[in-house]
This record gives sequence, C-alpha cells and structure tokens, in this order.
Amino acid sequence: MKSVYFDSAATTAIDPEVKEAMIAAMDSYGNPSSTHNIGRKSKIIIERVRKGIAQQLNCQPGEIFFTSGGTEADNMAILCAVRDLGVTRIISSPIEHHAVGHTAEFLRDHNNVELIYLEVDELGQPDLDQLESLLKEDTPTLVSLMHANNELGNILDIERVGAMCRENNAWFHSDTVQTVGHRPIDLETLPVDFITCAAHKIHGPKGAGFLYVRSSVKIHSMIMGGGQERSMRAGTENIIGIAGLGKAIELAYKNLDHDRAYMLDLKKYAVERVQKDFPFISFNGLSADPEKSLFTVLSLRLPKNDKTDLILFSLDMKGIGVSGGSACNSGSSKGSHVIEAINKNNESLVSLRLSFSKYNTKEELDYFFECLAQILEMELENA
Ligand SMILES: Cc1ncc(COP(=O)(O)O)c(C=O)c1O
Repeated sequence: MKSVYFDSAATTAIDPEVKEAMIAAMDSYGNPSSTHNIGRKSKIIIERVRKGIAQQLNCQPGEIFFTSGGTEADNMAILCAVRDLGVTRIISSPIEHHAVGHTAEFLRDHNNVELIYLEVDELGQPDLDQLESLLKEDTPTLVSLMHANNELGNILDIERVGAMCRENNAWFHSDTVQTVGHRPIDLETLPVDFITCAAHKIHGPKGAGFLYVRSSVKIHSMIMGGGQERSMRAGTENIIGIAGLGKAIELAYKNLDHDRAYMLDLKKYAVERVQKDFPFISFNGLSADPEKSLFTVLSLRLPKNDKTDLILFSLDMKGIGVSGGSACNSGSSKGSHVIEAINKNNESLVSLRLSFSKYNTKEELDYFFECLAQILEMELENA
C-alpha cells in the first residue's frame, strides 16, 4: 500500500543530515556539567548550537534556553511571567495551542490570574482593537498570541501586537512553534519577550526545543534541581536532541527560500484542485491565502455526513496520514477547540488538515484527491 504523509504540522520526518548530527553527538557521553575534558566536549556541542541559533535569530546566545520542546517552553514563559514578573492578567485567544491555553487556564483557576480571551472572527483573526483598548488599562499583563496557528495556518501580525505591548508596558509571549525555521525571525527588531521552538516541526527530533527570553526580562527556572542552562532549566541536557535541533534549524534557514517556494507551489496546487474538483469543500480560516497563512498548512472544511464522518479513517485505509484539526492532543477524540471557536454559525462540518513538508510531491496530492473522490463517491473530470 502507498504511504503518503500530509501531517507535518503535527510532526516531521527526521532529515538524514539531522540524523547524522545526532549520531555524531552520541559519542559525546560526558555530562556537560562535568569539569573534565570528556564533559567539556558535550558542553561544547550545546554551546555551539546555542550560538548558531542566536546567529540565525539575531539574538544573544544567553537568551536561548533549551527545553524538551514547545510545550515546556510555552509553560515556562507563562508560568514564570506570572511568578516572577508580577503579571496579574493574561490576554490570549481561544485558538491557542493547549500548551498555552491550559497553562493560562491553570493560572486563572489556581493563582487568581485574570484571563481574557480576545474575540476571534470566523476567519480566526483575534480582535486587535480589543487588545489595544485592554492594554490601555494599568494592569501588569502578559499577552500570549501565537505567531501561526497550527490548525488553520493563519499568521498573526506579531510586529503590530508586539508594538502595542511595548507601548503599553505589557510582556509579549508568542508561540512560534510553527514558524521558527519556516519564516525569518529577527529578534533584535521584533518586539517580543518570549518565543518558543520545537525541533520536531522542522525535521528535527521530538523532545528538543527552546525558549527565547529577552535579556531584559528576568525570570527564574521552572524546573528545579540543578544549575544547568545557567540555572534556568535544571536537568542534564539532552545533548543528542540539542545537536539535532541545531542541525534542523541550520538546514531550515539555509534552504528556506527554496523550500518555501516548493511548498507554496504544492499548496497552491492543492487549493486549485479543491476549487476545481470539490466545490462543496471550503477552507478554514485564512488557510487558502498564501500571504496570510503558513505555506505548510491547508485546512479544509467539508460538510458533515456519513462519508465525511469517517474521512480520517477512510484516508488512513488508503495509506494517507492527515489530521482533523490538531494531532497534538494525543489520543484525544474531542473536536478541535480552534474549529469550534471560529464556527460562528454552528455549522455541521468536518475539518481536514493537510500539512506539507519538503518531502511531499504533487503526485502525492493527486493520489490524495483521487482517494478523496473515491471516498466521497464522486467522479473526477479527466481522471
Ligand atoms: C503551535 C504549537 N505549540 C506548541 C506545540 C507543542 O510542541 P511540542 O510537541 O514540542 O511539545 C505544538 C505542537 O505540538 C504546536 O503546534
């Protein structure tokens, strides 16, 4: 059976060059905290990666803290902002990843933090006028809005949000898990205090990522029990994962222009095929707009019926891996909170997310559309 993977926003295949870098790092078994030469070898790997990432994102190496991925980095930014910066209010949106939403809700329920979710429209755009007027109130605030939505692909104008936060003395955290490596990020000019990264979204390993904390923002460790990461994240470092993360970021930025053009072409082709052959399918959010959405994500909206109800299963039977909404919530069969938030008319719908990587081809898309037509029991013109 064919195997076609269109779920790269959930996770990506490891790049062979990343694998090589990780295998090489396996030889450095020393504990990076040890003072002897064997330990120092491991330390050097870690610091090289930190420096490479800092160069790429135009920040200081000391502003990068390695974590176990996006979830930990999001948790750390939000929990530590409340604990260490005196934040009493979080302004976010109902369409954030649960790594943000559940953390903010925990702080609301257990730490008396005020939590305000901005209104989002039917395209999934948060109301930035509402944000602006809320920020005028004199309350120590953390704004947490994601750079790109993992389910819809929508890209936020983070320059504008960051400028508003700066002007009103609010801290700004942006979950950039879906954009690091897919878009250039210049942290010297971008007015943001915290950003996050997960290596496995860019052909790196699972369980490795980082939190960027602007040097002027003074927070302490969330995980305690050791002085690693300059006392900001206890625990012996995941050297192999960090080596993979470093290589993944290096490759993502080295090949960005080429890979972006390639995937944008795939996505445009998919949009055209949907519009031509499946006129009853529409797009969620800004997904079909190449300027305002990730080139990696295309979110389809299908009418709900007995065939579309089983669509993920039926596609899986044909060897096609896609997701409905989000796959980040392992084992969960609950509907997507993102789709629910933008489904203003309570339509009966089924959502299907195709997410692309540099390894996908148009032939795979043709196979997907052929299978989709079979499942929906329709004839394709010129098939
Ligand atoms: C936007 C976003 N934030 C956070 C995460 C969590 O990252 P991780 O899987 O590395 O914990 C994901 C995906 O899993 C994501 O898509």
